[in-house]
Formats: sequence, C-alpha cells, structure tokens
Amino acid sequence: MITNTELEKKGNLFPSKLVSYEQNGDSICFTSENGVQLIITVVRDSMLRLRYATDGIFENDFSYAIDQDQSHGYSVLDITEDDEFIWIITEQIKCRITRKDMRTAMFDVEGALILQDELGFHWEESFEFGGNYVKMSKSTVDGENFYGLGDKPTSFNLKGKRLSNWNTDQYAFGKDLDELYKAIPFYIGLHSAKAYGIFFDNTFKTHFDFCHERRNITSFWADGGEMNYYFIYGPKIGDVVTKYTNLTGRPELPPMWALGYHQSKWSYYPEAKVKELAANFRNNRFPCDALYLDIDYMDGFRCFTWNKDYFPEPKRMVEELEEDGFKTVAIIDPGIKIDNEYPIFKDGLEKDYFCKRADGPYMQGKVWPGKCVFPDFTNPKVREWWADHYKTLIGEIGIKGIWNDMNEPAVMEVPGKTFPLDVRHDYDGNRCSHRKAHNIFGMQMARATYEGVRKYIFPKRPFTITRASYSGGQRFSSTWTGDNLASWEHLWLANTQIQRLGISGFSFAGTDIGGFADQPTGELFTRWIQLGVFHPFCRVHSSGDHGEQEPWYFGEEVLNITRKFVELRYQLLPYLYTAFYQYCKDNIPILKPLVYFDQEDIQTHYRSDEFIFGEHFLICPIQEPNVQGRRMYIPRGQWYNFWNDTVIEGGKELWVDAPLDSMPIYVKEGAIIPKYPVQQYVDEIEIEEINLDIYYKNGKQNSVLYEDDHDGYDYKMGIFNFRTFKLTGKTNDIFVQQHVNGTYKSSLKTMKITFHGLPFTIKSATVNNEDVSLESIGYDNERNSIILQENFTDLHLIGE
Ligand code: GLC
Repeated sequence: MITNTELEKKGNLFPSKLVSYEQNGDSICFTSENGVQLIITVVRDSMLRLRYATDGIFENDFSYAIDQDQSHGYSVLDITEDDEFIWIITEQIKCRITRKDMRTAMFDVEGALILQDELGFHWEESFEFGGNYVKMSKSTVDGENFYGLGDKPTSFNLKGKRLSNWNTDQYAFGKDLDELYKAIPFYIGLHSAKAYGIFFDNTFKTHFDFCHERRNITSFWADGGEMNYYFIYGPKIGDVVTKYTNLTGRPELPPMWALGYHQSKWSYYPEAKVKELAANFRNNRFPCDALYLDIDYMDGFRCFTWNKDYFPEPKRMVEELEEDGFKTVAIIDPGIKIDNEYPIFKDGLEKDYFCKRADGPYMQGKVWPGKCVFPDFTNPKVREWWADHYKTLIGEIGIKGIWNDMNEPAVMEVPGKTFPLDVRHDYDGNRCSHRKAHNIFGMQMARATYEGVRKYIFPKRPFTITRASYSGGQRFSSTWTGDNLASWEHLWLANTQIQRLGISGFSFAGTDIGGFADQPTGELFTRWIQLGVFHPFCRVHSSGDHGEQEPWYFGEEVLNITRKFVELRYQLLPYLYTAFYQYCKDNIPILKPLVYFDQEDIQTHYRSDEFIFGEHFLICPIQEPNVQGRRMYIPRGQWYNFWNDTVIEGGKELWVDAPLDSMPIYVKEGAIIPKYPVQQYVDEIEIEEINLDIYYKNGKQNSVLYEDDHDGYDYKMGIFNFRTFKLTGKTNDIFVQQHVNGTYKSSLKTMKITFHGLPFTIKSATVNNEDVSLESIGYDNERNSIILQENFTDLHLIGE
C-alpha cells in the first residue's frame, strides 16, 4: 500500500496572510502567502461569488447550474483598505476580507453583520483522487434559522441538521432519511429579521451542517472540486429566493393542461385498460387532463419502443384519448438494454455514446430491462442524439409529455445503488469521473429530454417531469418527490418537501398523491387530494402492487369529496396559471412557506404545516386520521374563511373545523380571485365569463390576472394580457380599477363579480365613471354579485 505520510499529517490546511490583491473588472483576486487565491466577483449589488484555489490553480470555469440568461450587473463597486482589512463595497453589501487569514465577513450597508467566516475556507488534500476536500465554516448567531436544500424529507427549519447531497433512488424513504433524489446545494439563513442565501455550486457530494456538530457553527464542504459559492443578500427571504432562481434559471411557462389533474399508475395496460380509465373519469365527471404510461408500454422495457400486444396502434389510441380531452404522458428511463437486435443500443455503441469505466469497459448495470448501458448525458452530442429520439414518440405518435425516471442514476442490486465512482463522463468537455458527474446526470438527461420534447411538440409548449435533478434543473423539467409511501407521515412530508422545493427554485413539483407504495385508506387519499390540489404539480401515482388508486375506488363519499377539491383546482386555474407566470417571469415561488410570507413574525420560523398558495390563499392540510379539525397558525393580517366568509384577525393560533369534506382554507382580505367554471379538462369549453371573487377590505390591495392562449409561443411575442386590479375599500363604498396590459384577444366577454364581506348593502354604482342602474349590471342581492364587461376600467359601489 502506498501511503503519503506527509499528506496524512497535514489534516486541514488554511490560507495564510494576504500578500496582494488585484482588481480585474467585476472581480478581485486575493493571494495569500501560501499560494491560496480567492476571487470575489460582484455578480449583482446583492450577490457575490467567492471562488478559492489552492496553489493558484483554478478549474475551468464551467457550471451546469447557472442560467446564461440571468440578469447581471451592479451599480457600485468600491474597494477600500486599512491595516487590518480590505473592503469590497456594493450598493447593498459590504464584504470585509481580513488580511491576516483571508477570512470574509458580510455586512449590509448599515453595517449590520449578516454572515462571517468561522474557520472560513480550509481544505484537506486528497491523495487518492487528487484535488482537495474543500470546506467552509461560518459563525451562526443565536436565533439563526435555516431553510432550503431541495427535497430533504425532514423538518422545514434545518437548524440542528446535518445533510448531504448525493442523488439516490430511495424506494419508500422515511422521514429524516438522507439522501434522496435531488442535489440542491442552496440554503437560506435568517437572523435579526434579515435573510441571506448560500449557493454552493459544486456537483461532487456536498455536505451541510447547520449547528449540528457545534452549536454556533454552520459549515458546508464537498468531496472534491472547488470551494465555489454565491452569497446572496435579501434582506427578505423572497429576495434571496428570487435572486437564486434568477441565477439558476426558471422554466418556460408550462401549457395550461399540465396544471390539471393527472392520473398515473405502474402501469395502465393494455389499451383497453387505458380506455376504461379514461371513460371512468368522464362517466364520474371527475376532471382529468393527463394519463400516464409507465414502463410496461415498452417492448421489454426498451426505451422508445412499444409493446405491440398491449398497444397495437399507439398513434390511434393517443389520438382517441386526445379527442376525449386526455393528454398521454410516457415514461423514459436512462438504461438502454444490451441487445444486439435493439437499434438504439447498436447506434449508441457505434457512436460511442455510452458511459465507460475508467479502464475502458462499458458501465453495465441492471435496471428494468435487465443488463443495460447508459448514455453519457453530460456529452452535448449525446444529448442531441437523445433529443432526436423523441421525433417518433412526440412528433408522430402524439405523446404530449415525457416522464424521466431512474436518473440518479439508479442501478439495481449493487452497493450504493448507482454507478461506481470510476465511471468516466464528458461533462461538456471537462472530462471527469462519476464523483463529479453523479449529481448532474439526472439533470442532463432531463435537459436532453426537454430539448427533444420542445423540438417535436412545437408549436405547442413542452411538458417534462424528472425524478433526479441538480440546482438549475428547474429550467428543463417539473419534478416529483419519488417513491413515497401511503402513510400519514408521508402526507406531512409531502407538504414539507413541496414547500422546500419551492423556495429552492423548483416550484413545479408534486408528490405521488395517495402514496406510491402501500395502499391508502379512503380517508388518507381524501386528505392527500386536498393538499395535492394546491401543489403546482397534481398527480395521483402508485406502484399498482397494493390495489387501485383511482378516486372512485374508495367509494362514493371519497369520490364526491375528492371531486369537489379537484373541481376547485379547475376553478382556480386562472389563479394558478397567474402564479406560474409570476414564477416563470419573476422567479416568485408558487408556494410560500409562512416564514417566507412574514419573516419578522418569529412564530413562523418553525412552522411548515400552513403555507400560502399563490398570493392570496392560506392553506393548511389535515395530516392526521380521525379528526374533525385542527389547530393552525393564522399569520398576521385579516383573513376570510373560504367556506363561510367569517373574517379573523391573524397573528394567532386557532382551532379550525375540518370534517372530511373540508380543510382549512383562508383568503387574504382585499384579494380578487379569478375563477373558471368547472371543466372536465383544460379548454373543454370556450370560456366567455370568468368569476371574480372580491374579498372586501377596508384599505387597499392589488391583485393580478395573467391570460394567454394556454399553450404555444405567442405569449413570448407579447400576445398575452396582464390585468391589474386595484381595490380600495371604505366603510361605505368600494372602488375597483382594472388596468389591462397586453394585446391578447381572449374569449372572455363578461366578468361575474361576487363580493364577500361587504359591510354595506349596495345602493348605487358607477361603471367606467358613469352612473348605472343596479339592474343593468345584473345585481343579485342574495349572492351579492354583478356582471360587467370584461374590459371595465373602474367600478364604484356605494352603500346606504
Ligand atoms: C420508479 C419510479 C416510479 C415508477 C417505477 C416504474 O420506482 O419512481 O414512479 O412507477 O419506477 O417505472
């Protein structure tokens, strides 16, 4: 055995005193006496990037996470120095570098300390693999809390946890189990009502310790690569999240049908079963937009093939489903069966597109089809090749969405459940081993799939879903949380994980509603649907091993209740679509945890049951069996109970009734909620009248509504409408102005406006600044509603 006693003795190494620094445009490079270099780049006034190299050797600067279209630029960059420190000053941050040890500290412009190095950057040389284990530790102040890190199945506030990122196929995972399917090395720190973010852009296995090992220390480290991280200043959590999402990118707007209800199982086959399923949805008047084909549609699990016994004419079947309003989504896995009769295997082999071990043999591993090889999705040529395979599936057969699975990558019956570490990858020309490429593999597969679906679905918009991903993967795909379990604990996890993914840049996410493994009771299924309709991605999926999981399977009562909630989702489609637009355009997460909503209220810091859906809804799922209600926290402000319009003052915990056919839902006062009529699927009917539910407030509140063609790219050319509603309520009158920005000619003709909580009886009205009779606006005094032209500019109602 070779040992290197010198290295073994070294342990942690640290930068020594600073000897020089040099500015080059937006970057300042600091050099220490022992050859450590730190480059600090001002990415924005509120965002710095810090990169360290030992021996002055930086890697090629390449990242899969960073969105090349992100907004860049700052307005101020000053450098000052004294005997002890050098200061980099932007319009929002002061960064202090200590001369004697190169440690950094971040302050806001008022001089309040936000975050400072404890030991700061240090490293351990890796003799076995070369390079370093790179480490960073920060001081934590009392009362500091932590959030983020993607799909971790643990309490929402990460304080006291130690977690790591290594994409792993975890069938029926449990609470607190680490690691899961995704690697999102981004977290938010919050103290003194100020928030900052750290994005550690390193695809090796990364580790995070939030005051777990030492009470007032937070640290993060990686098994290789560079200490390369972004410091993002808030001070609001919302600012940190939107800046991180801008840095790593957001998806394009999904087609509206993807926001409908989806039904999946492993697996619906043959064709007759799929048809029966479709008919059951329509016969039961249960809205549904998408049906999924799991691996059994393929011929022996060979990707891009069909089992012709089960599906003799897939194109016809897909067309017939489409005529009935269903989109078909099909699964595609990364493993390619080793089979000399299988063209994709032969072609990939010829082109040398499959991953290889260090000494040259192919990376072989068992997945569903048996022994497989795996395309190296980190090679741009392979991604193009893969994308082209969607020509038939999407372009010819008419499949509308692709579901990528097993892309951690998962390998069966081997230790570690994945590739051995010596496997080689292209990494877009930065050749490396699986140690570096593991966490990026799934994201690059999803990227290749996205490119293919986008190309062949054009002029419509793509829909894709992936199980594994890395930071920035939200640009290419929606996601779900993998193989969960039909248990009450998993319902709790579902709520926590989707909120966590939302503030980690990944809003378009959902869970296997009802649980993948095991069988939910009707009660659990009902409670899960109630939560799931408020998740950006809403799909029932199950392993099929434990019984059926269609809504009618659990009996009449469950069917009726779940239908009511799915109908509510369909009514709220314009509201949800607007929230998606704000996510895709302005990086605003669709679900907002309470701490995001009101970080100044410390009551919110450890809460995760309640969340804000879009801008105006407060939701709190029931997560226990046999209950008729629950206690929940209502954040500060005035809220309407959605079911009975009673108004309550927040900032306190309350008991809320919620028998099985109900759940706690509140609406923020002043909100204007757009609603469609119930449809069985998106665009079933041409909508000429939209409902606007106006929740009276004594004061002012704005609401917005985004509209476009629900699919296609016209919206990118400005063909959309963005409506802003400004409400001003007083004791005896209410004034609503509408401003429409855009050129989209929608099918809307009228708006049915219903008032909630008006403290007066309507006596007279003006519309567009002219007196109108109450009859002429269809006033219904029982429902407190009126009907206006969709393009009204202002409405003034006066009470007695
Ligand atoms: C994996 C997926 C699951 C899928 C199954 C068969 O377990 O997570 O959703 O149904 O594989 O494809």
